[in-house]
Amino acid sequence: MQDIILLTGAGKGIGEAIALDFSQKSQKNPSFNPVLILCSRTYNDIAKLAEKCRALGTQAVPIEADIADLDDIDHLIEQTTEEFGTIDCLINNAGVGRFKDLKEMTEDDFDYIMSVNMKGTFFLTQKVFSIMEKRRSGHIFFITSVAAEMAFKSSSVYSMSKFGQKGLVEALRLYGRECNVKITNVMPGAVYTPMWGEAAEELKPFMMMPEDIAGPVVDAYLQPSRTSVEEIVLRPVGGDINS
Ligand SMILES: NC(=O)c1ccc[n+]([C@@H]2O[C@H](COP(=O)([O-])OP(=O)(O)OC[C@H]3O[C@@H](n4cnc5c(N)ncnc54)[C@H](OP(=O)(O)O)[C@@H]3O)[C@@H](O)[C@H]2O)c1
Repeated sequence: MQDIILLTGAGKGIGEAIALDFSQKSQKNPSFNPVLILCSRTYNDIAKLAEKCRALGTQAVPIEADIADLDDIDHLIEQTTEEFGTIDCLINNAGVGRFKDLKEMTEDDFDYIMSVNMKGTFFLTQKVFSIMEKRRSGHIFFITSVAAEMAFKSSSVYSMSKFGQKGLVEALRLYGRECNVKITNVMPGAVYTPMWGEAAEELKPFMMMPEDIAGPVVDAYLQPSRTSVEEIVLRPVGGDINS
């Protein structure tokens, strides 16, 4: 049987690592057949990643979509369900941040972060959840952050958006428990990805790597159907980077 897995923000960083981990684990376990629907705004990234997944024997389909655009969300879901019939797993990984001092935050910064992390994540989840609710089966992951429950000075709006995502996780879990849909909140600390821009190289010794997050996510998906991994918190061994 196939598992239809919709992964947003698949083109880089943690999302890319999750796609590769699914493919590697499927290669080792012939009864696990994930079909990866890879979404981001940059087609080139997801097309290249789809090639890598296929080389590992996993079916992968790149679909360009901006989750902040509700028409793109509809198209993403329609294309997936028309081709594969359903969605077994949604991984809400797409997320953006603009990190600067409180007084430098503009309306554009605010709207951009909120449109992706809050609005896009909410409406994609709402629509996919209704498919899972009808089938009484499914699993939704949120890659939130440790910034979903503690603040850092340079991440005021990012933290607002991540606290907000955690609010959605907790509300959705109340619905999920009534219809056998698992909800997992993944809260990583600093991970070496393009999200950190130029700061990444200097901070690399104090960070986790994307595959450190991907492994536990895929393992949580592979738990027995009776068991829900509700929360995963992962930090660099030296703790959080205070920036
Ligand atoms: N890196 C960290 O330290 C860290 C720590 C905790 C939590 N997180 C969270 O983990 C998730 C992944 O972060 P990352 O570090 O891997 O980020 P990243 O390296 O910047 O990659 C983000 C991915 O999301 C895609 N994306 C961004 N906005 C999108 C949109 N509107 N629609 C569709 N795709 C979109 C990006 O591609 P395009 O720009 O081409 O669309 C990219 O493929 C985020 O939610 C982030 O908040 C990261």
